[in-house]
Amino acid sequence: MSEANTTRRIIIDCDPGQDDAVMLLLALASPEALDILGITTVAGNVPLDLTQRNARLMCEFAGRHDVPVFAGCDRPLQRALVTAESVHGTTGIDGASIHRPAVPLQDRHAVDFIVETLLAAGDDPVTLVPTGPLTNIAAAIEADPRILPGIRRIVMMGGAMREGGNTTPSAEFNIYVDPEAAEIVLGCGRPLTIAPLDVSHQVVVTHEPLDALRAMPSRVAAETVGMLEFFNRYDSEKYGTEGAPLHDPCTIAYLLAPELFEGKLCHVAVETGSALTRGHTAVDFWGVTGHPPNALWLHRVDPAGFFALLIERLGRYDG
Ligand code: BDR
Ligand code: CA
Repeated sequence: MSEANTTRRIIIDCDPGQDDAVMLLLALASPEALDILGITTVAGNVPLDLTQRNARLMCEFAGRHDVPVFAGCDRPLQRALVTAESVHGTTGIDGASIHRPAVPLQDRHAVDFIVETLLAAGDDPVTLVPTGPLTNIAAAIEADPRILPGIRRIVMMGGAMREGGNTTPSAEFNIYVDPEAAEIVLGCGRPLTIAPLDVSHQVVVTHEPLDALRAMPSRVAAETVGMLEFFNRYDSEKYGTEGAPLHDPCTIAYLLAPELFEGKLCHVAVETGSALTRGHTAVDFWGVTGHPPNALWLHRVDPAGFFALLIERLGRYDG
């Protein structure tokens, strides 16, 4: 069955972040395709108290008070937290109008929610969509490996091959922050789709999607414009492009419209030892190691199709 024609049960694990925020708004606008069982948050772009607040704010903007939001790990498995305020601003979602959201934070720890949900999945396993450091997902696997059959697929944003790194010359941010967690996820044996910088750098926010959003009357569109205008500033200077790459929405776009992407089954390993190349993803794109593939490595996306999907979905909001 086509991935696009099924209503999938998903858990989104994120660290908003403007691009995580747009990813959430895209997912929350697609209830016919995505049954969001919960949004779990992790420390990453900014500390956990801000990422969980930001996720709740997106649910409020989207009018989706029905989706529970959980806070998870406040630091990587074995290392000190590295954050990215220089990219996202001190709030993580600078550019949005920020207040204390009406959507409550759930009492349960995110890792407990993930474990309990996956153990109860039965013959309808759940797709995990991580768009931050992989700490919560790895912690859940470590806590109870019996959850693995409850995972239908993991569709994650992280890593890089052709695009090098955005945090060090060798590493992408999500993998750099918690490489030990990434190693656990890459080795978990469940189907895995990876949207790395190699695809996200093909979907850069230009004036066209921004103009389309500015023409929309909704609050969601206005908040998205505010966030993307801020997000564009840093990356346009860094990369010399018109705007910023929309990393995290690639995961949800893949679930909604996999035909927009090209990928190759590859073996992917992560560097945990070296200080110089910490968090590097070693992608066996040409099959030189003989190791069996553990991931579908996305490497091409149709940018026009991606932005058409995003604009159509964000256009669904009338509030
Ligand atoms: C990833 O790092 C974060 O800054 C973004 O939210 C995205 O998940 C891109 O490297
Ligand atoms: Ca993120």
